[in-house]
Amino acid sequence: MPIDSNTKLYGVLGDPVRHSLSPQMHNAVYEHQKINAVYLAFPVPPDRLGEFINGAKTTDTVGGINLTIPHKYEVPRYLDEIDPRAEVLQAVNTVRFDQGKTVGYNTDGTGYVTSLEREYPDFRWPGANVVMAGAGGAARAIGAAVTERGAGLTVMNRTAAKAKQLANQLSSVYGQAVHTAAMDDRETLAAADLFINTTSVGLEAPDACPITVDFFSRAGIIVSDIVYRPLRTCLLRRAAAAGMRTLAGWGMLVYQGAEAHEIWFGRSGDAELMSRILLTELQRREHRE
Ligand code: ATR
Repeated sequence: MPIDSNTKLYGVLGDPVRHSLSPQMHNAVYEHQKINAVYLAFPVPPDRLGEFINGAKTTDTVGGINLTIPHKYEVPRYLDEIDPRAEVLQAVNTVRFDQGKTVGYNTDGTGYVTSLEREYPDFRWPGANVVMAGAGGAARAIGAAVTERGAGLTVMNRTAAKAKQLANQLSSVYGQAVHTAAMDDRETLAAADLFINTTSVGLEAPDACPITVDFFSRAGIIVSDIVYRPLRTCLLRRAAAAGMRTLAGWGMLVYQGAEAHEIWFGRSGDAELMSRILLTELQRREHRE
């Protein structure tokens, strides 16, 4: 699409943000769906975030933004409305600008859940025993999405107090028990139907594994990692070598983006195209290193 005076602006705000792959993903979909829009990366320091939001509200050229580190937790205070799910998380990764009004959403947790459901359509959340390593921001979003779907959840984290805090928060919001366990707790891992690594262990460290896959014992267990650099982390390689089903981290990025697209344009984000673009770029970067 040629850029003209009707072109709408979308983008991702972060600090830093130049490494982001969202512009490639979203612009490819705009081109494919013939949407007159462009998606850019905006490095914005934390103390200028409010100015950016308020400035963008003065024009209907800005249609929406995504937020990444460190803005997800700060942005809600600048918005006019927050969707209930983002309200629970106290974090927003997608904003829709609508005739001078801003609405905040969170598509991180649902992005993870959708990526799992697409890869393993036979997986049933109610009654599943989900074990999640980590208790940071990503864990909060994923933990909420998993609990919302009726799965049992156990949180394990290096700092036990943070696991307890997250479990208590999720229990009080969803009215069901959320358990905690020590990292690498043998019995907890043995009972897992789905394991999710949300810690940064393995990020740019191909030989670092957050837990021992030898403890998993359930038939059909799915082992997933939200780390996607490298594409095949130590955890995923070891799980696959032991014959377990695996789910790589890049899918969450695709589906949080596809859902943001749907919020902005009211039509599906073409996750297949987004996946192709993202995988090609991640592989290119991996080979360059
Ligand atoms: P994100 O927003 O990506 O979730 P975060 O909020 O900084 O990032 O959370 C990082 C998570 O990785 C935390 O659960 C952290 O554990 P602590 O709460 O103990 O800090 C976990 N983590 C980071 N480095 C780790 C390591 N070397 N071993 C185990 N856990 C680690």
